[in-house]
Amino acid sequence: MKADAPQKVPVTLATLQAMRQRGEKIACLTTYDAGFTRVLESAGVDAFIIGDSLGMVVMGHDSTVPVTMDDMLYHAANVARVGRSAWRVVDLPCRSYETPAQALANARRLVDEGGAHMVKLEGGTGKAAIVEHLVRHGIPVCGHIGLLPQSVEEYGGYKVQGRDAAGAAAILADAAALESAGAEMLVVECIPATLASRVTGSVDMPVIGIGAGPDCDGQVLVLYDMLGIVPEPHPRFVRDFLQDGGSIHAAVAAYVAAVKDGSYPADEHGY
Ligand code: KIV
Repeated sequence: MKADAPQKVPVTLATLQAMRQRGEKIACLTTYDAGFTRVLESAGVDAFIIGDSLGMVVMGHDSTVPVTMDDMLYHAANVARVGRSAWRVVDLPCRSYETPAQALANARRLVDEGGAHMVKLEGGTGKAAIVEHLVRHGIPVCGHIGLLPQSVEEYGGYKVQGRDAAGAAAILADAAALESAGAEMLVVECIPATLASRVTGSVDMPVIGIGAGPDCDGQVLVLYDMLGIVPEPHPRFVRDFLQDGGSIHAAVAAYVAAVKDGSYPADEHGY
């Protein structure tokens, strides 16, 4: 009889915090469905973001702005149905957290119907009251600062944030405000590597970078980007792991290994 594969112990926030403490890098990827989720877990991914990037890579929208609660719930539930070990962070989509009451109602749906372990929302000091409200009602929150894709229409494109002193100070203040409000994890997107390093050193929660250099506690990429299955041009922080991987499982395992040994992201992936 074939022996069962050993079950990986489920990752919790305490696991991620302990990894940060001992300097073990956290390997995170986005996922949106059951098939990829099984492969990603078997290749050793620690944490998933069921990101609203699904609006672009799965649904074909030009941005994440049109993504709805129904879209997020559908994909989050697909992942939760088969997810066994990785920590699951699910995005609150654009316009779903404009008031504390609306944010709480929607976050509860992501947890109850979508199987989220934690919800993620974009914004810093301006969102601290919302974060505080969610945390007070028992919803774990991941912040997201730096480049905020849900605000891309206001930026006029996907641009690196925090390049000047005022921008950097605002991002450091955002991180502090989110932590004071009770956020327990933070994504920093498209900021200079030196600033990401300062943000990581300034808070106690695990910080996951995307386009933010090597000194965060972990890394995340959009799954379809790291498999090279989205149209060019790709942001400079993206590395196609499938090119040399041979299979999706091998590509993801190579990503996990590269994050853990610090070879991804390299200098050429940073700002
Ligand atoms: O939606 C998404 O994929 C994200 C990534 C930046 C992790 O938020």
